[in-house]
Amino acid sequence: MKPETNGSKMPSILVTGGAGYVGSHTVLTLLERQGTDIDIVVVDNLSNAYRAQGQKQPEPIRIIEELTDKTIHFYDVDIRDKDGLSKIFEHHDIESVIHFAALKAVGESVQKPLEYYQANITGTCTLLEVMRNFGVYKLVYSSSCTVYGEPENLPINEGHPTGRGLTSPYGKSKYFCEEIMKDVCRSDPKWMIVSLRYFNPVGAHRSGRIGEDPSGIPNNLMPYISQVAVGRLKELQVFGNDYATVDGTGVRDYIHVQDLAEGHVKAVKLFHQPGFGGFHAVNLGTGTGYSVLQMIAAFEQVSGRQIPYKIVGRREGDIAENYADVSLSQRLLGWRATRTLEDMCADTWRWQHNNPNGFKK
Ligand code: UFG
Repeated sequence: MKPETNGSKMPSILVTGGAGYVGSHTVLTLLERQGTDIDIVVVDNLSNAYRAQGQKQPEPIRIIEELTDKTIHFYDVDIRDKDGLSKIFEHHDIESVIHFAALKAVGESVQKPLEYYQANITGTCTLLEVMRNFGVYKLVYSSSCTVYGEPENLPINEGHPTGRGLTSPYGKSKYFCEEIMKDVCRSDPKWMIVSLRYFNPVGAHRSGRIGEDPSGIPNNLMPYISQVAVGRLKELQVFGNDYATVDGTGVRDYIHVQDLAEGHVKAVKLFHQPGFGGFHAVNLGTGTGYSVLQMIAAFEQVSGRQIPYKIVGRREGDIAENYADVSLSQRLLGWRATRTLEDMCADTWRWQHNNPNGFKK
């Protein structure tokens, strides 16, 4: 699709997948934190974001404009569309890119590997190529702790091997993209790439106006719990209680999406640091793990709702326990997560309670 020429020559940050869950919270945080001297350009193909009939902007972007009273340049373009993407670079003075646009459902990726490799790998390669063509060498990449596979030791630091024993095309696509970016950085010292390896993002903006809005039945724990709490789903299935963990259920490092968003803002700031360059992978987590049963209890406490659940067998591909070593993020980015488990549950609940059907009214 041909983008409209609503360009400006203000220095801009391009956010791919900016209408999605982590993307939209990052756009909002960038607008809250940056001065008026930077423009935000969002490109999103709306494969996992909702746009109401007759609206130009997808709902999260429209709401962020309302909350911040700022304008976002939005383009309904697929990042694999090289011409469409190039036109955006022609119309805006893009300084750096934060790249979220990707497919992310682990189970679906096993059924549709080609779609995942197309979207995630071809998409990333096309973006990198267009960036290079326009002399833009600064990129923050949305990666995942899934690149570590089964943890050999905990907490996991960035020196842990990656790419071993990965079971899903989704996880492999994140690993392959990191490898591609390492090669790209080796090929030209102008590149600066920060790959942020997220642990388990949960929560929502404190306004309760934007949050996670999975299409169909949620795959992840937190949106499932909140949909049970609001009455959209009947009961939660707990996948296994025979792991070697505190109570037998899986343990993960849940991180508030606002903390995660702030990590991206810090990563962009690194680009201005003298001498900074090359590829850097950084964990974004809290360093603390909680079990499924602890998550249920915390959510019940905060929401005042009971979460009916049933213990069932383990889910294929799941690991027992995972949490991050967060010392590099503190050292390199000067960032650490500050929000508590109660904040994560309270903000998820505010969003879910105010918007029982997500962005669709
Ligand atoms: N769980 C349940 N019931 C559910 C959903 C999840 O008991 O209905 C459990 C899981 O077994 C696991 C924990 O809750 O112990 C967290 O599961 P999620 O699906 O929320 O998260 P995962 O850790 O499995 O997956 C996340 C991201 C993936 C990423 C992976 C890397 O969603 O994108 O971390 O480890 F690949």
